[in-house]
Amino acid sequence: MTVVLSGPLGAFHHVDSRELMPALPAGSVELVWTSPPFEGIDGVFADDPAGRAFVRWLRPFFKEFERLLTPTGSMVIEMGHTWLGDQATRGVQNAALLATLVGEEGWHLVQEFYWYNPHQLRYRPDLVDTRLRFHDSVSLIYWLSRGTQPHASTAPVIGAQGGGRPDGNYLVLDDDESDAQYFADCAATDETPHPDRHPIAVPGFFIDFLTSPGDLVLDPFGGSGTTGLAAEARGRRWLCAECSPDLVEIARRRLRHLPGAVDHLL
Ligand SMILES: C[S@@+](CC[C@H](N)C(=O)[O-])C[C@H]1O[C@@H](n2cnc3c(N)ncnc32)[C@H](O)[C@@H]1O
Repeated sequence: MTVVLSGPLGAFHHVDSRELMPALPAGSVELVWTSPPFEGIDGVFADDPAGRAFVRWLRPFFKEFERLLTPTGSMVIEMGHTWLGDQATRGVQNAALLATLVGEEGWHLVQEFYWYNPHQLRYRPDLVDTRLRFHDSVSLIYWLSRGTQPHASTAPVIGAQGGGRPDGNYLVLDDDESDAQYFADCAATDETPHPDRHPIAVPGFFIDFLTSPGDLVLDPFGGSGTTGLAAEARGRRWLCAECSPDLVEIARRRLRHLPGAVDHLL
C-alpha cells in the first residue's frame, strides 16, 4: 500500500506515478494539474539545449494523462525556465514539449498563463548580480486539452488572479492563510518552509476554473502535497503521487492538518 496520508476526498501516495496511473480507470480524471521536475532530478536536463531528453522523459506520462482524462478534461502544467547548466544561455524544453504534444500527440494548447513567481525560480547570482541577465520573474503555466472545448468557467475565478486585469492571464498568487498551520509548525521547530512548495492558491485557481465539486484532480508530481490541500478545500476528489521520501515527509506535515486526515504511517 503506497498511501501515506489521506483526507476525506483523496490520498497522497509515496510511489512513482508511472506505477500508480495505470491502475486508475480510463476517463476518470477531470484535471491533471502538475509541475514536473523541469530541471531534471539532480540537474539531468542541464545539458539538453533542444529539450529532447526532457520530452522523451515526459512523453509517456502524457500518454497516461490522455487515457485518464474525461473528454472535457484539462491538463495544466507549470514550468519555469532552464539554464543550460552553468552556461549563460537557455534550453528550449518548454517549446519542445509543446511542439511535440501539439504537433505529434494530438493535444491542444488552450491558453498559457504567466505566474509571478520570483522566489521559487532558480537564482543565478553569477548572471544577475554581475548585470549580465535579469532574474526570472514568471513561471509559465500551460493549459492543454484533448478536445477543443474543455470544461471551463472563469466566473468563479474572475478577479482572483491577484494582479493585472481581473479578466487576464497574469497571476500574482502567493501563500495565504490556507497554509497557516504548516507555517506555524515550521516556526515552532525553527524550520524554513520548503522552498519548492507551491502556494495552495495556484492549483486552487485552476481547480476552481476547470472542475466542479466531486471531480477528480490528479497530480503525478505531487511534491509537498499542494494539490491535495487545494482540492480537498474545494470539495474535489484528489490523488497525488510523489517518489521522493523527503518531499513525502513535507507533504505529510502539510496534509495532516486537513480535517479528517489519516496518517497511514502512524
Ligand atoms: C517541481 S516538484 C513539484 C512541486 C509541487 N507542485 C509542490 O507544490 O510541492 C516535482 C516533483 O516531482 C517528483 N517526481 C519526479 N518524478 C516522479 C515520478 N515518476 N513519480 C512521482 N513523483 C515524481 C519529484 O520528486 C519532485 O518532488
